[in-house]
Amino acid sequence: MLRRKIKDNIYWMGSVDWDSRLFDSLVPLPDGTSYNAYLIEGSEKTALLDSDEPHMVKEFMEQLESVSKIDYIISQHAEQDHSGIILQVLEKFPEAKLVCTPKAKGMLTDLLMIPEDYFVTVADGEKLSLGDKTLTFIHTPWVHWPETMVSYLEEDKILFSCDFFGSHIASSDLFVTDEGRVYEAAKRYFAEIMMPFRKVIQKNLEKLAAYEIEMIAPGHGQIFQRPKFIIDAYQEWALGAPKNTVVLPHVTMHHSTQLMVDHLVTALVERGVRVEPFNLAVTDIGKLAMSLVDAATIVVATPTVLAGPHPYAAYATFLANALRPNAKFLSIIGSYGWGGKTVETLAGMIPNLKVEVIDPVLCKGVPRQDTYLALTNMAEVIAEKHKENGYV
Ligand code: FEO
Repeated sequence: MLRRKIKDNIYWMGSVDWDSRLFDSLVPLPDGTSYNAYLIEGSEKTALLDSDEPHMVKEFMEQLESVSKIDYIISQHAEQDHSGIILQVLEKFPEAKLVCTPKAKGMLTDLLMIPEDYFVTVADGEKLSLGDKTLTFIHTPWVHWPETMVSYLEEDKILFSCDFFGSHIASSDLFVTDEGRVYEAAKRYFAEIMMPFRKVIQKNLEKLAAYEIEMIAPGHGQIFQRPKFIIDAYQEWALGAPKNTVVLPHVTMHHSTQLMVDHLVTALVERGVRVEPFNLAVTDIGKLAMSLVDAATIVVATPTVLAGPHPYAAYATFLANALRPNAKFLSIIGSYGWGGKTVETLAGMIPNLKVEVIDPVLCKGVPRQDTYLALTNMAEVIAEKHKENGYV
């Protein structure tokens, strides 16, 4: 794809990755993604914001053939999907300076071995004049690494946000055309890489409130011509109260745990609690992460295997602990054959979660009447706790 005009002298560059289905060998990409860079031609200087994913180098260098000079490469984030071909760009434009935060300088040196002479570091709030256009650099740590910053183009009121406000969508539409689709993709993206830092994100959102933003141009996905839409969504995800929802990651081997899950789902729904069950044998882990953004309660359902939780349940629990969702309650249900330490093992895997643990329900073999009664009671307790706390 060729570079595309956003406004006078401002262009989208980069690539649309239609085929990728997994990022970092971890994050599912059901809709592919894009790696967005931006070119700003000021009356005196030209700046390139970010670059591209290394495997897209050929396409990016072809786009650069129509660019006569680059004075500044602005690296907003050191991760390779944005910084991966900076060295090749510097080879083509050796007079360019590489502008980044002091922290990013260290990371870019470690990751890409960029020579010291190219770097210019910028302080939080520092400005860079391109002649008739002025960039202000705003340090926004943890969106998504500690070194990240965003760039505000004063005259055009555009915020270039890199990972912040991004979404993994491959599309030929440069601008958002379907907010519902983008909301879902952006929430998934927030869950997968930003949820653990929601307190810092809250501070970053407060910082951005000082700027009049008419457009947000992120590093992945489409450009927002209605920035309020995505800023409001981030406010909700980062600051909102948990919802009257139970996330229920589950796995079963001989169907006993599945019977318990089915009973609990019915009992919760009867009590007005929303349930999002995920069969870990087949689920998209990104969907599970997305549900963790605002669920008040997590219930992990697992059989006991080799004296502990099923490995899929252990994976989901490890992931939930790492993502640090805002859930307030947690419990465990499942069937076992003769013994084991399923509850102890899972409980030891969630030190990051500030949750009240609701009494687990385990049963030996197939669930019987007492098991179903205990699960009904668990549903009652969860519904009551959600109600007491005003979760809707
Ligand atoms: Fe899109 Fe954190 O890189």
